[in-house]
Amino acid sequence: MNIANSKELRRGAEAFSHLDRTIDTIRTELGVDPISVDAIRNPDVYELEREKIFKNCWLKVSTDWEIPEKGDYKVKELAVADASVLIVRGKDGKIRAFHNVCTHRGNKVVPTEESETFGNARANVLSCRFHGWVFGTDGALRSVPLEENFGQLDKACLGLREIACDIWEGFIFINFADQPKQPLAEFLGDFGKLFAGYPYAEATTAFRYSTVLECNWKVAQYAFSEAYHVPTIHAGSLPGFKGIEPGDFKLIGPHASSAIYGEGMDTAESTAKFAGLLHKDGHHGPRPDMLPPGINPTGRSDFQFELPNIFPNLLIHLASGCGYPGLAYFTHQFWPLDHGRTLWEGVNYFRPARNAAERVAQLHVNALHRNAWLEDTATMEDTFTGIRSGAIDEMQLMDQEFMIRHAARMHDKYLAQ
Ligand code: FES
Ligand SMILES: [Fe+2]
Repeated sequence: MNIANSKELRRGAEAFSHLDRTIDTIRTELGVDPISVDAIRNPDVYELEREKIFKNCWLKVSTDWEIPEKGDYKVKELAVADASVLIVRGKDGKIRAFHNVCTHRGNKVVPTEESETFGNARANVLSCRFHGWVFGTDGALRSVPLEENFGQLDKACLGLREIACDIWEGFIFINFADQPKQPLAEFLGDFGKLFAGYPYAEATTAFRYSTVLECNWKVAQYAFSEAYHVPTIHAGSLPGFKGIEPGDFKLIGPHASSAIYGEGMDTAESTAKFAGLLHKDGHHGPRPDMLPPGINPTGRSDFQFELPNIFPNLLIHLASGCGYPGLAYFTHQFWPLDHGRTLWEGVNYFRPARNAAERVAQLHVNALHRNAWLEDTATMEDTFTGIRSGAIDEMQLMDQEFMIRHAARMHDKYLAQ
């Protein structure tokens, strides 16, 4: 399907033309010098990043369709902020975030063993298992066993400690600052507008992969922030690959983005054949019309996906549905556990399958992505070991690696604040 002549899409895309950069302007704005690896190697920099970046920026921690019902909650362990975060949908339907810390003596209200824990607060209350203090899903302290034995207890001031929380396109973000420097919409800025309007909430079937990598979080994020490695690292998982053409370079405040065009990268044919699917009903064919107007603005049929780097630790790859069951995107997120360990999370999202063939197609795409991601993650620990050895002091970056250069600049900027 070629929509290059769609006037409507072109008109919508013009609203974002001020974000566009050429490689020449990128070189002018970001320079071409090598970048120091000190920010990756130096544990002191990591301690600064925790304070200046992760405790100050908006961080995506969930989606609202992960906790659809009143009382549904998710607990996210965030070692980078020494925090356990409870995200809960209240009786009023509103989503709030709290420290998962009981105000009696500090126990976790919801016990956790995994990096993510899901549940439902029956009767819209959560009870701390240590001594039984009970909190509402709005955070209020509801009851205290043997309350009269406390001498004095101002229950109104002893609710769960709230964390700033806001939602963009169904993605739930938190901010650990007592007073966030800017609202989420302002932090996302033009990125939030550029990526708005995609039917994220329809793609509720999620396949999650995660692993702990023995590397600094930026090594992992940088490895997913460029496509220069595709012909080499992904030669195994993309045998039909005919070359990549990066394009639509954008610098968007602390965020950046670019599109990946190319033949032979998409899984359309193999997936459709594998699942015995026909493209007749339009549900499985490429659907560039689903993309926001600023993404693949000229409607190129070889568009693969848009690859943004959303500061500080999130990637949302928007695909047009080529080869996928109707709708698909995938995300990567990189959570530092300490200076040299990172929890990587990769999630494939699909519209729910309508039949067995669609389910098979999803599983097939999922397996292809898993293979590619195994190839990606296989480089990271070696890269970090190499950087730690002291053998190199700089990274040499080419044009396609501009998002790394931009991110490194943003890190410096935040650390200097
Ligand atoms: S620590 Fe929660 S009830 Fe005591
Ligand atoms: Fe890759």
